[in-house]
Amino acid sequence: EKSVIILAIESSCDDTSAAIIKNKTILSNIVAGQSVHEQYGGVVPELASRAHQQNIVPVVDTALKKAGISPDEINAIAFTRGPGLLGSLLVGTSFAKSMALGLQIPLVEVNHMHGHVLAHFIEDGTPSPAFPFLCLTVSGGHTQIVHVTSPTEMKIIGETIDDAAGEAFDKTAKILNLPYPGGPLIDKYAQMGNPKAFTFSKPRIDGYNFSFSGLKTSILYTIQKLEKEHPNIRKEALYDICASVQHTIVEILFDKLTKAATELGIKEVAIAGGVSANSLLRSELERIGKTKGWNTYIPRFEYCTDNAAMIGIAGYYEYLQGRFADQSVAPLARLAF
Ligand code: KG4
Ligand code: ZN
Repeated sequence: EKSVIILAIESSCDDTSAAIIKNKTILSNIVAGQSVHEQYGGVVPELASRAHQQNIVPVVDTALKKAGISPDEINAIAFTRGPGLLGSLLVGTSFAKSMALGLQIPLVEVNHMHGHVLAHFIEDGTPSPAFPFLCLTVSGGHTQIVHVTSPTEMKIIGETIDDAAGEAFDKTAKILNLPYPGGPLIDKYAQMGNPKAFTFSKPRIDGYNFSFSGLKTSILYTIQKLEKEHPNIRKEALYDICASVQHTIVEILFDKLTKAATELGIKEVAIAGGVSANSLLRSELERIGKTKGWNTYIPRFEYCTDNAAMIGIAGYYEYLQGRFADQSVAPLARLAF
C-alpha cells in the first residue's frame, strides 16, 4: 500500500489547527487556541478571523517541522469547508487553496462534522467502531446522532432543534458567572456537588431530536426563584447546581441515544466532539453500554475538541475515493451534512 501524506487545516471556530497525517497515523497535530474571547463570554467572530490570520502560517510551519515533513512530500491538502464561522473558514480555505496551487497538489474539502465522527479511525492504539455504528457528536455548536455505514457514508438521524449541548453548558456557566467556555469548569465543580439537588425540566421532543433552550430557561428561573430567599445561591450552591445541570444534560443526551440504539438494533456506540470530554458523559456511556451490551468508543481527548487531525483522517478517505475540490471552492457557514 502506497503511503499518503496529507496536510490538514481546521479553522471553523476559534482554534487554528494544522496536522500532518500519513495514512491513518498522525505525525503532528498543532492547535492554537484563542484566549481573546474569554473576556467576552463567547467567541467573537471578527476577532476569531483576525487571530486565525495571525496563527495560520506559524501553525502550519510548526506542524510540518514537528512531523519532519517538507512541503514537497505532501500528497494533498485537506481543509474544513464548513460548517462554522464564515470569516474563520475563509482563512483556512484561502490558505489551503493557495498552498495546493503553489505545490500543484490536490485539494480535499472536509465537512467539519464528518471530521468529528471520523476521529474514531485515527490509528493511535484505540479501537475503532465497526460499521454500522451510531455516533453522538456533541460540541459547542452541534448535537447530532449520526448513523455511520462507512467512512464516507453517514447520515444524521437526530439533532438539536435549538441550542447545542455544549451551549447548554456554556450558557449555564454564564448564569453562574463562570468564564467561557464553561463546560470544563461545570464538569470540575459537578464532581463536588449533588446531582439530585435540583430538578430542571426536560424537553419533550419527538424522535431522536434534542432541545436545550428550555433547560437554560428552567435553570435561570429556578435560580432566580431561590435567590429571593437565598441571595447568594449562585455561589453557595454552585457545586450542586453544576452537578444537577450536568446530570440533566447527560440524561437528555442518553435518553435519545439509547432510544436510537435500541430501535435500530445497533450495539456499536460512539461519542465525539468537545462535550465528549465530559466525565459524566464518558462514565455514563460505559455504564449504560454495559447494561445494553454495547461496544463503546471515545476518541482520545485531543481528537475530541476541534483539531486538524480529524480533518486529515476525513480527508484521507476522500482522497482514497478520488474526490477532490477545485480552486473555485468557497467555504460555507451552513455546509450541508
Ligand atoms: O468540539 P469543540 O471543541 O468545539 C466546537 O466545535 O464547538 O467543543 C467545545 C464545547 C464547548 O461548549 C465546551 O464548553 C464543551 O465543548 N466542553 C465540555 C467539556 N469540555 C469541553 N463540556 C462539558 N464538559 C467538559 N469537560
Ligand atoms: Zn467541532
